[in-house]
Amino acid sequence: MNTENTGKPSRRPSLLQNWMSLTGLVVVIGGLFVFVLLFVLDALAHFSNPYISIFTWMVTPVVFVFGFILVLIGVVRSRHKRVGSSSMVSAVQIDLSRPRDRRIMVTFVVSSLVFILLAAVGSYNAFNFSESVQFCGETCHGVMKPELTTHDHGPHARVACAACHVGSGVNWFVRSKLAGSYQIYSVLFNKYPRPIATPIKNLRPARETCEECHWPQKFSGNLDRTFNYFQSDASNSPYSIRLSIKIGGADPAHGPVGGIHWHMMVGNQVEYIATDAARQKIPWVRTTDSQGVVTVFHEPKFTNEISKYEIRKMDCMDCHNRPSHRYVAPDRAVNQAMELGKIDRTIPWIKTNAVYVLTRKYDNDKQAHDGIATALSQRYPNDPRIHEVIPAVQEIYRDNFFPEMKASWSAYPDNLGHMIWPGCFRCHDGQHKTDDKKLSIKANDCNSCHTILAQGAGEEMNKLLPTGQKFNHPGGDYDITCTDCHTGGP
Ligand code: HEC
Ligand code: HEC
Ligand code: HEC
Ligand code: HEC
Ligand code: HEC
Ligand code: HEC
Repeated sequence: MNTENTGKPSRRPSLLQNWMSLTGLVVVIGGLFVFVLLFVLDALAHFSNPYISIFTWMVTPVVFVFGFILVLIGVVRSRHKRVGSSSMVSAVQIDLSRPRDRRIMVTFVVSSLVFILLAAVGSYNAFNFSESVQFCGETCHGVMKPELTTHDHGPHARVACAACHVGSGVNWFVRSKLAGSYQIYSVLFNKYPRPIATPIKNLRPARETCEECHWPQKFSGNLDRTFNYFQSDASNSPYSIRLSIKIGGADPAHGPVGGIHWHMMVGNQVEYIATDAARQKIPWVRTTDSQGVVTVFHEPKFTNEISKYEIRKMDCMDCHNRPSHRYVAPDRAVNQAMELGKIDRTIPWIKTNAVYVLTRKYDNDKQAHDGIATALSQRYPNDPRIHEVIPAVQEIYRDNFFPEMKASWSAYPDNLGHMIWPGCFRCHDGQHKTDDKKLSIKANDCNSCHTILAQGAGEEMNKLLPTGQKFNHPGGDYDITCTDCHTGGP
């Protein structure tokens, strides 16, 4: 390898020619290799995710720097030796005819290859792991517990967090890296808000997330759904309503256009202004149809302030804002447990009391667990049936209340419906009219978005009326704004 053995004068060997620097170089190359590999994997992935950035941008540079330091130490040491003795002993001299050199060489080459191979396999696995639901939901366990729990109980339990929160595309790739790194920082330094605020500012538009799986043109027809309730009286009187929900469709090429998904009609556009961060107050709406006809609806008082606000184009998330994380309201959760027989509906006032104990203030899960048990046992000291009710109520709490993160139904409005959050009635409330007051966004007609097929209890539920019935409110006369009285809580 080196001409020195021949005794002839030779080029001075590089200071890098020592085992330590060579090892350092291998580490540097390995680090670079892993970096490029992760970067490419992430860029090619259908759905990438922000957390891979920990590996790409935080771990590989450390490996890099480590390798570099090894190289430097090697260089410094061999310089030192070179200065100390004028001979060239410090330089690595490999003579493959010597068995010792051959052994060292083989060991060096093999271990370098193994190192790079392991780095590749390791980083590929790290990549896959960071894509997974466990990583997103469990790594930051306390912080993401509410979202993970509700995700696992929702219709999208099998859809990875990254599929909705990150998605693909270069622009969003970079943005989500930045957001992801910020999220890691805020968890490490305990800077995150409780509850985590929504709507999420940098959530990708529905077109690039939901529509990767759901075809917006699909004609969905009607959805027949029965809602079962128990009232807050001594006998927990049952009441049900069966609705045929007119989901409809949005593309004339694939079925009739109309119904609820009309808002998403191809060639059509619905835009709005929300005056609050949670998008619960919508005083101004503008529609543009496929012919370009523009109609503006607004609340009477909202006229000249348009330029002050951002105009948002309506998309799937304006109605389906909780597709994955549904914190069930205690009122509904108790109804369901009673319907399933987990809570004995023959226990007097059990509906009222179960909702009551769920909505007391608790600081943590343990306190809630004990508090629920104590309060219910005290209310029904002589009723052994309560022993089966307690675990059911505790389970409702565990699944839907997260005191550490202050997350529960009351922290997150659900826009799909109108009973405990304004939802559809943010616009369909009879207050949104054109300037000449001739047109208004449809409201009041209880059979326009859904048909009330049946309502009541027992036999009444078998009397179906396909054209729709007039609503019989169980509490007597009512006002259109259901949310004035119905809060989902006590
Ligand atoms: C089906 C799509 C979907 C999936 C899957 C999904 N999310 Fe979400 N997530 C959303 C939407 C939509 C919002 C609410 C956005 C809004 O209101 O602006 C949200 C909100 C959040 C929030 C804000 C707090 C909150 O509760 O609203 C966090 C944190 C979150 N998701 C984490 C996760 C984690 C962790 C997972 C995986 C365990 C996950 N998400 C899976 C769609 C999804
Ligand atoms: C990776 C694919 C995927 C993505 C992304 C996705 N969904 Fe879904 N979604 C599904 C699947 C699969 C189901 C059917 C679940 C079932 O019926 O068991 C579903 C079901 C639904 C349902 C019916 C829920 C119910 O209560 O029955 C709605 C509404 C929905 N998705 C809306 C959304 C919205 C809004 C988004 C965007 C935030 C979204 N989805 C993103 C795959 C996806
Ligand atoms: C104006 C509000 C609104 C908008 C906007 C909207 N939806 Fe819906 N969607 C509904 C309602 C209401 C239902 C029926 C009730 C339910 O599923 O709880 C529904 C039902 C669905 C279902 C279930 C259909 C079934 O057969 O069970 C899917 C999937 C869905 N929507 C996807 C989407 C997607 C994707 C978008 C965006 C392109 C979208 N929706 C936009 C209100 C809306
Ligand atoms: C941002 C405001 C807004 C929200 C929120 C909203 N809508 Fe609409 N909706 C409109 C406007 C504007 C029209 C068109 C005017 C009209 O027909 O009254 C419309 C029309 C409709 C129509 C009639 C479609 C047709 O065939 O002509 C239905 C049904 C409907 N909406 C249902 C709903 C439901 C259900 C929700 C809640 C899940 C909802 N809307 C939420 C603004 C809104
Ligand atoms: C703008 C469209 C629209 C109008 C108008 C409307 N609803 Fe609804 N309603 C909905 C939607 C959407 C849902 C939710 C369906 C779901 O959760 O799957 C709903 C749900 C309900 C429910 C079940 C509530 C629950 O979540 O437990 C009742 C009861 C109901 N509506 C009664 C009425 C009555 C009474 C009127 C007339 C005052 C009315 N609706 C008018 C769209 C409408
Ligand atoms: C003025 C207050 C008020 C308004 C407004 C109101 N409700 Fe109620 N509602 C009640 C009371 C009180 C009861 C009886 C509650 C009980 O005993 O649990 C009730 C009961 C119900 C029930 C039977 C199930 C249950 O939870 O007890 C349904 C369903 C219902 N209301 C739907 C609606 C809808 C939909 C609207 C809006 C269109 C509405 N309510 C508006 C006060 C109101």
